[in-house]
Amino acid sequence: MMTTPDQGTPDGGLIRQVVFRPLTGDDLDAAPPWFAQIELRADRWRDADTRAAVAVLDGEVVAAGVLFTSRAHVDRYWVDIVVDPARRRRGLGRAMLAHLTALRGRGIPLMTRGYVDEERIAFAFAVGARTIQIVPPSTVSTAGRDALRPHPAVVPAAALPFAQVLSAHADMYEWIHRSWSPVSPGFAEVVNAGLDDELDRQASAVAVVDGRPVALAAVYRDVDPPIVCAETTRPDVADGERLVEGCLRHALDTMADRGAARVEFDGHVSDPHLMPNWAKLAPSGRWFLLVEVPAEC
Ligand SMILES: CC(C)(COP(=O)(O)OP(=O)(O)OC[C@H]1O[C@@H](n2cnc3c(N)ncnc32)[C@H](O)[C@@H]1OP(=O)(O)O)[C@@H](O)C(=O)NCCC(=O)NCCS
Repeated sequence: MMTTPDQGTPDGGLIRQVVFRPLTGDDLDAAPPWFAQIELRADRWRDADTRAAVAVLDGEVVAAGVLFTSRAHVDRYWVDIVVDPARRRRGLGRAMLAHLTALRGRGIPLMTRGYVDEERIAFAFAVGARTIQIVPPSTVSTAGRDALRPHPAVVPAAALPFAQVLSAHADMYEWIHRSWSPVSPGFAEVVNAGLDDELDRQASAVAVVDGRPVALAAVYRDVDPPIVCAETTRPDVADGERLVEGCLRHALDTMADRGAARVEFDGHVSDPHLMPNWAKLAPSGRWFLLVEVPAEC
């Protein structure tokens, strides 16, 4: 069968001429506009688990990519790639992925993410990705907060010592990731970093039972609209769904009192006490996927 690049088929001749090399500070200084489509840094910007490369064709950079581990998780590398828009659908994305895969210092898989209808996700599935997590539509109107009931065990996070709030926050983060993306030993420091500024302690809410925080709705105010994350602090909290409901109602009431029309939820379909409450709020927006990309693509 005859194939041409214009038909969106891999261009073996072109790929054979491409040379890969580390991405440098000079590449960033001379960045073509399309570099801005992803976040690029120089090779080994943090350590041996943070790699970056460019693909060069006839002296011209035609693609770039990064591979890095999260400081909060140990299980996968994140990967991101950008190809010169004039040279897409010729196999450069796939070739860069293979190059980055070979740069891995550890034999762990790769992952990426995007909205279901984005080309980045189409590309990931084309190279064999599988879904590891789903984030539902995330825009929630505070006007719909009556769908959730208040709960007498819920207090503003400001009513508790901050150290207790931080501990609840880390506990929540740890178990909601346990089954699909386990945390690293030092994760708490990473996920709690900056919360003294970023956590809205009046809008954030904690359910306290027998003197212990058992559920949390964290409202992060460093973005607009604010982001809300909520769950129990352990997987097995009695009445967890109801307690998370009360925490969310507090957060939405507080935001509505301040005149905020919308918040953005952040969480996963696998968060058992959050998801039913999220659904009751009739969120709008796009579905978002986290996908694992096989190393042998
Ligand atoms: C995603 C991206 C890197 C793909 O680069 P590319 O060089 O076009 O990728 P390839 O030619 O290797 O494509 C491999 C396969 O992915 C799929 N694919 C790539 N782009 C696609 C698109 N826009 N829509 C649907 N499928 C697409 C196709 O199945 C393609 O094979 P085909 O051309 O034989 O049909 C490129 O579109 C890009 O730079 N996008 C902007 C940045 C970005 O979203 N990066 C995320 C990468 S994880």
